[in-house]
Amino acid sequence: QKILLIHGPNLNLLGKREPEKYGNTSMKDIERISQEHGSKHDATVSCYQSNHEGNLVDRIHEAQTQGIDFIIINAGAYTHTSIALRDALLSVEIPYIELHVSNVHSREAFRHKSFLADKAVGVVCGLGVFGYKASVEFATQYKK
Ligand code: DQA
Repeated sequence: QKILLIHGPNLNLLGKREPEKYGNTSMKDIERISQEHGSKHDATVSCYQSNHEGNLVDRIHEAQTQGIDFIIINAGAYTHTSIALRDALLSVEIPYIELHVSNVHSREAFRHKSFLADKAVGVVCGLGVFGYKASVEFATQYKK
């Protein structure tokens, strides 16, 4: 199983950024934990982060040519704004989980809207780093 883990804007600052909301674990550590968890289940986890919407769209397109089976995406604030990311995910027809470190539903109303959620296999939010392990494990046994 080939899994792609995508992080959107500002998530490169995880661990340093608003730790009361997002915890102390860095994005690099989350990527390593996800890769280790994937390899326990015979899956490879490739990781990508960008602060730029178009780069994220390009990476999703590339996933199709690479034969990626499943995408786990924490699109950050683009979750709440980006029709382009939605369209990219639907274009490549790769199943995906929308993930958030924090519980977006306990926060500002503008975070309750998602352009990705209704087409996702599932949405994980508020579970912190554990959400990544849970999502990776789910992806390893997902059948389209
Ligand atoms: C986030 C939640 C988003 O609302 C926010 O814009 C982020 C991080 C999360 O992981 O909790 O950048 O996706």
